[in-house]
Amino acid sequence: MPQQPPTPALVLDVPKLDSFVTRFEDALAEGWPNSILSYSFKTNALPWLLSYMRDRGVWAEVVSDTEYELALAMGYAPDRIVYNGPIKSRDRLWAALVQGSVVNLDSKREVLWTAELAGQLPETTLAVGLRVNWDVNVYCPGESTSTSAHSRFGFNPDSGELDAAIAVLTDAGVRIAGLHMHRNSQTQSIAVFRAAATVAKELISSRNLNLDWVDIGGGFFGAEDGQPTFADYVTAIREVLEDVVDPAETQLIVEPGGALIAVPVEFHASVIDVKQVNDQTFVVTDASRTNIDPLFRRKRPFQYELQTEATETRPTQTIGGFTCMEDDRLMELPDERALATGDRIIFYKVGAYTMSFQPQFFIESPPAVYVRTHAELIQVRSKSTVQDYVQGQRWIPAKDNLDDAANGMGPWLAPSR
Ligand SMILES: Cc1ncc(COP(=O)(O)O)c(C=O)c1O
Repeated sequence: MPQQPPTPALVLDVPKLDSFVTRFEDALAEGWPNSILSYSFKTNALPWLLSYMRDRGVWAEVVSDTEYELALAMGYAPDRIVYNGPIKSRDRLWAALVQGSVVNLDSKREVLWTAELAGQLPETTLAVGLRVNWDVNVYCPGESTSTSAHSRFGFNPDSGELDAAIAVLTDAGVRIAGLHMHRNSQTQSIAVFRAAATVAKELISSRNLNLDWVDIGGGFFGAEDGQPTFADYVTAIREVLEDVVDPAETQLIVEPGGALIAVPVEFHASVIDVKQVNDQTFVVTDASRTNIDPLFRRKRPFQYELQTEATETRPTQTIGGFTCMEDDRLMELPDERALATGDRIIFYKVGAYTMSFQPQFFIESPPAVYVRTHAELIQVRSKSTVQDYVQGQRWIPAKDNLDDAANGMGPWLAPSR
């Protein structure tokens, strides 16, 4: 059995990751063999993970030039990259189109740039997808994660912006080859994916589209065992879409992030102190909420394990972080064993939108990352040092002659002799 890492540390369990990727692959192979499984880089862009996905044949799903360049640096060929998001630069968009990436446009300037490129390449028929702006609440009330009434992503069919984009592209000789339907949802239910497929189906019929791909996006729930399964999602999507597309001709693209990487990652912390303040017990740890709930908005309790010798319990314990923020509190433990200095707390299922949201330097640098196989524990990222932090930055170097500095600044800076 591999050892435990020094804390604080993130640990990626490789057998669990293997099982999630295999299950999604199997669901697609069974339900829609002509499909692309792509991994959403933004969810967790740990280089080890990106190279793992590449070796498993999973495509990259990226939403910025920088993520695109990271995919290239990780050895993904351009024709294994799905390029989404509204912030593409003209040069990267053009290169992606010419080099065979799957490109879904998400802003008007991208439409104009694609039309411009088509004008420069009269011998080539460019093919693009369009992100669709649709209201998940109309189909599944209460599912939207947007704080205001509408989502800001994609081209809206009702305002005429989708048809305007189609017209500009078609006039320039560009083929509308795909629709991109991604929406996050509150419950990640099958109904949301059925709704996404239904909107796509209506557009395919009403706009008479002949598509190479329907990109249904990410937002799946990654159940360890239990419902819904990846196969349940693929079946539901297929049931709706096969009325209007031939699955042998039109590819289904999926872009899971959290569904693949949330569960396989755990976070290990140690207790560094226990403080009693009136009736409240604070357990101070070498972790911070910034490590595993960086947006401070998690409502569900963490799944955890306590590694302690304690046998007696306390009615409540507040697990706190090491930073100076009062609300850096990770959880309240009700009726749990009384933790003591040196005990270990393991937080489970923390791989999605945690490592990628770490501040580069806030009191501490982000923790080390390990991957665990059946046989070993391997460090794949070390905790960055002050040298890593200052590298590539400019600052005013310290004066060699401290006497001069002291003369200018006052006697309290005089070097001790
Ligand atoms: C376009 C797109 N695809 C895929 C994902 C991945 O979503 P999730 O991690 O919920 O699977 C996101 C995340 O918001 C996204 O914006």
